[in-house]
Amino acid sequence: MERKLSILMVSAEAHPFAKVGGLADVIGALPRALENLGHEVKVAIPYYGSIKEKGIEVAEVKEAGLFDVALGERTYPARVFRTQLPGSKVEVLLIESEDYLDRNGIYADAETGQPYDDNAERFTFFARAVLRMLKITGWLPDIIHCHDHQTGFIPAWIALPSGIQGFPANLRTVFTIHNLAYQGEYPMEVGYLAGFSEDVMKPMGGIEFHGKVNLMKAGINYTDTITTVSPTYAREIQTAEYGYGLEGILKHRADDLVGILNGADYSVWNPETDKLIPCNYTARKPKGKTKCRKHLMERGGLTLGKDVPLVGIVSRLVSQKGFDILCEDFDRIMELDIGVVVLGLGDEAYHELLTALARKYEGRVAVMLDFNEEMAHQIEAGSDMFLMPSKYEPCGLNQMYSMKYGTIPVVRATGGLADSVTDYDESGDSTGFAFKEYTAEALYSALERARKVFSDRDAWKELVFRAMSLDLSWGTSARAYEDVYRKTLEKRKSVKAG
Ligand code: ADP
Ligand code: GLC
Repeated sequence: MERKLSILMVSAEAHPFAKVGGLADVIGALPRALENLGHEVKVAIPYYGSIKEKGIEVAEVKEAGLFDVALGERTYPARVFRTQLPGSKVEVLLIESEDYLDRNGIYADAETGQPYDDNAERFTFFARAVLRMLKITGWLPDIIHCHDHQTGFIPAWIALPSGIQGFPANLRTVFTIHNLAYQGEYPMEVGYLAGFSEDVMKPMGGIEFHGKVNLMKAGINYTDTITTVSPTYAREIQTAEYGYGLEGILKHRADDLVGILNGADYSVWNPETDKLIPCNYTARKPKGKTKCRKHLMERGGLTLGKDVPLVGIVSRLVSQKGFDILCEDFDRIMELDIGVVVLGLGDEAYHELLTALARKYEGRVAVMLDFNEEMAHQIEAGSDMFLMPSKYEPCGLNQMYSMKYGTIPVVRATGGLADSVTDYDESGDSTGFAFKEYTAEALYSALERARKVFSDRDAWKELVFRAMSLDLSWGTSARAYEDVYRKTLEKRKSVKAG
């Protein structure tokens, strides 16, 4: 038997403690799936003020005590608390800091929606505090698994001579890219605050990008293994269209880059057990779904006949998610005789566009500008189709949840959407509808095809049954990560000069 591994995940989000998007869902689920494989997993996240408000039971990590974290010339105090991921023994380590983390939002102020202007310092502090905590407590994992740019300095601190010394030579890092568009580009001073030397910050240096410090680049350059959240996205980010300027270094590190599709956490997203929906149902007994639809229509003020499909959207309202091609010719889409319900928050421009459409199509289009977990579940359960026309999508989780809820995904075939939804073709293994071109026309054609099949009750029932029967749970992905960890431990330590 191979020995069990110890892994520390470091992330800015983790469900159910702090969530903005899919990163939280991954950190809430992957550690449990790895624990089920016999590994010891811990998670480190910031102890945001919003977590404190939830009143979760926590205990102070006394071994860590009150300790100082250096940023440039100054030091800031930190403490650590522990709790567990629900339904597991996975320990969640909450890093506390009055200066940087004890606030009501994750990246932005919860009331105003304005991003904090010291995010660079906040997450540099958090990442540094995590390494400090490891040193003080003496608990050292085999692998530090870092997620997204907020943790990008960690691999650099460990690999670089100008980084943080004193970690064992066999400590390895894995860095996962959840979204390459958010890179954490900050003024050069941030590199000095983090303690790096001149050579990595000069033009073309390891953490420099167009005259700024780039945390995503730091993670990619200095980690032992890079992963991203679907095989297709792993290929896409090596091209100029999806690479946001980092395609060159990703190509250069192609041998160390692995795409692993996220899973769906069926302990949270399952119509059979979901406590947030009005009526439970299964693939074999799907009746409850009709009640969920009725309930959702009431909540959204919708008055659709039962032959009119309801299309759900739950999304951050940002350009990534395809609202441009959705809104471009919305009137034509409405001619397909469908209803639409949108739940989301994001850019003001989309708030306005969507609100105007809801006014125009009162009774047929409902728009809820909110972040609301209960409503997200009710849309998954009560809709007939789920729309994700994303411009790019590293993985995407809602299409996977949708299939479990018998809500047929209509998606643009990009990233993880291409890897998880099989386009309808009557051959008997399709699970949704997919289109390739990022155009209003291609989106319309896919919805038109879905609309036609919806009218054929038997074909639709069959499709729903197939989608609901699919197993996209975390087990397979967790085994793929286990494989990545073992291969990473076999790699020779990459000693980087600069
Ligand atoms: P991304 O991480 O790019 O936002 P994903 O599809 O991976 O996209 O994950 C989004 C997650 O966030 C899902 O769990 C989804 O239900 C949730 N979500 C997005 N917007 C909202 C919202 N307005 N209210 C509640 N949950 C939301
Ligand atoms: C990012 C991506 C999304 C992915 C999620 C979790 O937020 O935008 O596609 O599912 O991370 O990996």
